[in-house]
Formats: sequence, C-alpha cells, structure tokens
Amino acid sequence: MRYLSSGESHGPQLTAIIEGVPAGLTLTAEMINQDLRIRQQGYGRGDRMKIESDQVQITSGVRHGVTLGSPITLVIKNKDNKNWGHVMAIEPIDEHDYEIKKVPRPGHADLVGAMKYGHRDLRNVLERSSARETAIRVAVGAVAKQILKALDIEVISHVLQIGKVSVTNYPTTISTIQAAIANSPVRCVDSDLSIQMCQHIDEAKQQGDSVGGIVQVLAENVPAGLGSYVQFDRKLDAKIAAAFMGVQSVKGVYFGDAMMASSHFGSEVHDQISYDQGFTRMSNHYGGFEGGMTNGMPVVVQAMIKPIPTLYQPLNSIHIDTKEVEESMIERSDSCVVPAAGVVLESVLAFELAKEILEEFQSNQMSSLIKAVKCHREAMRDF
Ligand SMILES: Cc1cc2nc3c(=O)[nH]c(=O)nc-3n(C[C@H](O)[C@H](O)[C@H](O)COP(=O)(O)O)c2cc1C
Repeated sequence: MRYLSSGESHGPQLTAIIEGVPAGLTLTAEMINQDLRIRQQGYGRGDRMKIESDQVQITSGVRHGVTLGSPITLVIKNKDNKNWGHVMAIEPIDEHDYEIKKVPRPGHADLVGAMKYGHRDLRNVLERSSARETAIRVAVGAVAKQILKALDIEVISHVLQIGKVSVTNYPTTISTIQAAIANSPVRCVDSDLSIQMCQHIDEAKQQGDSVGGIVQVLAENVPAGLGSYVQFDRKLDAKIAAAFMGVQSVKGVYFGDAMMASSHFGSEVHDQISYDQGFTRMSNHYGGFEGGMTNGMPVVVQAMIKPIPTLYQPLNSIHIDTKEVEESMIERSDSCVVPAAGVVLESVLAFELAKEILEEFQSNQMSSLIKAVKCHREAMRDF
C-alpha cells in the first residue's frame, strides 16, 4: 500500500491517491470526516480551523460504501481558497496586488526551501511546507484505520507534555486512555494537568509565543512478527520512526521507555519473557519491539514536537533581497499544535502498520487478509 499527496495550503484542494487497499473494505466519507474533525480541535489552534471544517470527498476506488481494490482518491477542498484568488491563481496573472513574502521565519522551511528551488517569493515554499498537508494525511490514515479495525487493531494518541507541564502517571490501555481524554481540550489523561496545559498555552499566546510538547501513540492487538531483523531497512520500528519524522515539527522519536532505559541497568529494564497461552512479556519498556519486529505487546511510540515557528512576537531574521535585519514574517498561525500533531501521528502509525501487514500477508481482498492474519496469530500463539 502506498500513497502520494498534493496540494498547497491555500490552493483549491488537497488530494491523495492510495493504491493497494484490498477490495471489500467498508469505507464512507463520514468514517474519514470523524478523524478530520478531531485533527481540527485541540486547545491552541488558530482561526484557520474555524474557516476550514474539513470534509473529504472520495472520488475513486469505492462503490456503494465498499472499496473496489482500485486506487482510492481522496479530496479535501480548501474552503479558504476563495479568499486567495490572485495570490494562489494557477494561471498566469498580469499584475499582483498582494505582498510578496521576503523575510523567512526561523525554524520554518522558508529560507532553505527558497534557496533550494530558487524562489524569490517565500510563499512558493510555505504553501506546501505548511502542515495544512497533514489534513490529507489524516484522511489517508483513517482509511488505514479501517483496515486495522477489521483486524481488531486499535490506535490512539494522547498528550504527555505541553511546554513545561507533563503527565507522568498515565494508563496504558486504549479504552482507559480514550475515556480519560474524552473531555480534555488537550487530549491529556489528567484533568488537573489539562487545565495547567491550557494555561501554559494561553501564557505563550499572550506573549506572541508558541509551545511544543510530547505525544504518545499506541496500537493494541498488533500481531507478533511484523517487520524483520534480517535487513536494516526491514525493521518496522525504523520505518515508523522515519514516518514520524516526516510529520512537520516532530524533532525526536522514541519507543516505549527508551528515555528512562538509557540511564538504567539492563536488569532493570529488559522486558522479561513469560508464558500464558502463548509467549508474552512481563513489562513493555521497549514499546512492543525487539529486533525491529513487533513482539505482540502494545506498540508505544513517543514523538517530541518543537514549538511552532510562526511567532506573533517575531524573532529577527534577514530580508532575502536587502540582506537587512527585519522581524520575520507572520502567516496566520496556531500557538500549540501538540494535540493535533498526536492525531496526525496516530494516522501515520495506522498507515505504517496497515502497510506492513499488507506487505506480510499480501491480499487483494479483505476476507483473505482477515483469514491470513487470524492464521498467523494462531501460529504465533501455538509456537
Ligand atoms: C498539525 C500541525 C499544525 C501546524 N501548524 C503550524 C502553524 O500554524 N504555524 C507554524 O508556523 N507551524 C505550524 N506547524 C509546524 C510547521 O509546519 C513546521 O515546523 C515547519 O513546516 C518546518 O518543519 P520542521 O519543523 O519539521 O522542520 C504545524 C505542525 C503540525 C503537525
């Protein structure tokens, strides 16, 4: 399974074409829209979210709510495009009546992107480097989640840290996490800390600043033996880490309790093997992976999200033509995207898991995939 996405932040639409989804999967636009709505929520998001209220259109690969096995095309219209007529015109225009962006934001793709592609208007870079693109990635992930759901695999994300406020005690099962974050505007399991996180975001916003944080993404009921130790590029944890790093503003990825484990004795952190109707582990410090393969324990991955680059109290930068010091440009922006980034990463994990499963158990039809995975689970249990 693979996909490509396209689309500029203020262009007409975002598009993705996914190839390799088996035939026979139940799929409707509403199943995808649910995830798009969650991505747009989260304390600290900006006004753009109020404008967009994303809705997906499925324009190929599905008939009567069931996948056909042919490429699936997903489209999300950018409702804001109507306000960007001249600025984002696809056809040549005679004269422009808009500001050309010249002062790059530190921490954004603006400067090096312009240097690489030879652009003198930084908008030519920021339109595609913008995390608006993550909307279509969430839509693609929602399709992957439907494949996982048919195999009884669930994925969730929650926030461990925003700025200096962090939660250290948290549940480890998806159902408990789901219930605990249901009313949190920052998708944090602790209601008191949720309030503190919101206050921290407010503080940053009032000062024209931004904050980052850490999210945890979990998958339950993932069969043992996905990925392989036999070649470096077949290790599934490596593929997941690369995919996570592909999300805007992710600056670090670690599995399970890797941060803690690196400062402890091996005897304190290795997950001891036990047997109870199949092999299991007495703990899950390594986040469900040994030797690049899933070991049947929940997959647990954390991503470190940097504070977003656009600041309403901007840092100094350099004008690309005059080479003079100026305050860096401002593009309408959020002040904290950590909860939303979690939702994006949930989609990314779902896609990587579904892709790996389809690579391991190649199937053109959902019914044969379900049978193959059931058979594999039995073989793992009876080893
Ligand atoms: C869901 C999401 C929303 C984001 N929104 C903004 C934003 O409003 N303003 C901004 O400057 N950066 C935002 N970012 C981060 C930038 O897109 C990102 O920092 C930039 O593209 C540079 O990429 P890098 O941080 O991976 O180096 C967002 C990131 C995510 C995941």
